[in-house]
Amino acid sequence: NNHIVIMAGGIGSRFWPMSTPENPKQFIDVTGCGRTLLQLTADRFEGIAPIENMWVVTSKKYFSLVREQLPNLPESNILLEPCMRNTAPCIAYVSWKIKKRFPDANMVVTASDHIVTDVKEFRRVIRKSLDFTASRDAILTLGMNPTRPETGYGYIAALPDVVAPEIHRVESFREKPDFETAQAYLEAGNYFWNAGLFIWNVKTIEKAFRTFQPDMASAFDRLNDVFFTSKEQECIDEMFPDCTKISIDYAVMEKAKDIYVFPADFGWSDLGTWGSLHTLLSHDDAENATVGDQVTLIDSKNCVVHVPAGKRVVIQGLDGYIIAEKGDTLLICKLEEEQHIKDFLK
Ligand code: GDD
Ligand code: MG
Repeated sequence: NNHIVIMAGGIGSRFWPMSTPENPKQFIDVTGCGRTLLQLTADRFEGIAPIENMWVVTSKKYFSLVREQLPNLPESNILLEPCMRNTAPCIAYVSWKIKKRFPDANMVVTASDHIVTDVKEFRRVIRKSLDFTASRDAILTLGMNPTRPETGYGYIAALPDVVAPEIHRVESFREKPDFETAQAYLEAGNYFWNAGLFIWNVKTIEKAFRTFQPDMASAFDRLNDVFFTSKEQECIDEMFPDCTKISIDYAVMEKAKDIYVFPADFGWSDLGTWGSLHTLLSHDDAENATVGDQVTLIDSKNCVVHVPAGKRVVIQGLDGYIIAEKGDTLLICKLEEEQHIKDFLK
């Protein structure tokens, strides 16, 4: 009865040129381990649910990438969006579809742009989380210990009382606060980062959409007869562009009342930028992190280098740079200026 939903329709613009709209980061072997972020995400759920209960929601244009990278996933478990509408319509679509066939489904929804180093602990947390929501009308989040006033994450304020072992009731959820607010949250001490993983029963999320996004709920209600039929894609293509472009965090999490948090530590990191990759990879003595097998760094420090296997690169005298090559594109950029990479793209 457990279902896994992987959201894989983002474009990862801060990771250019490794990530491009044609081939975004979730389909790339970012860490050089031989598996893409999407594959690592799917691997992480092994043993939690059979492959028939895994669903990937992505853009139409990434269909063949998903097929190639997850060859065991049934083709009919890949849900295709005609355009990007952020994560709320994505979650509504897959939830309405799952509910049609599995009205009591218990689900985990996950992003596909994360790294988890302690997979055993991750599975323990997921199993316990699914136990918690199996018979309870609850939205469960996973709380990561915040280490800096990051403005790109959601913040979860936990109440001290424990409602089940390791699980707390949530006072409030705030998506992407400004820097001052994030700093205040960090100092307050009872806040967690939202890991971008949600656990709930399909009935719970359906109810939440009905309450907080009634138009979206009605739009998917109208498709109820076409799910799992040959008409489904055509109907989705027609209605999806009219859905509000909004993330689940703003659409539901900031508004919902019965939210819970499971504070956990399984070596989570969000691979959002080159800087986050630099932090994650192992370093040489001069704090350089390298993906590529023919790279030599001389008198250089604090660099992150990401080049294809076989590419010979010699770097001399650089401090704090991104050196990244992909296809016919080479980026050389100061790490501290990485927020501007989005603008270079334009
Ligand atoms: N199918 C589909 N369609 N997937 C999407 C879409 C879409 O339109 N937009 C984004 N995604 C996928 C991305 O590929 C990613 O795996 C996941 O949904 C989350 O989207 P992001 O765009 O990466 O969200 P974020 O990083 O800004 O914020 C979320 O994750 C943070 C943790 O990494 C929020 O949930 C934050 O609260 C959270 O802290
Ligand atoms: Mg993200």
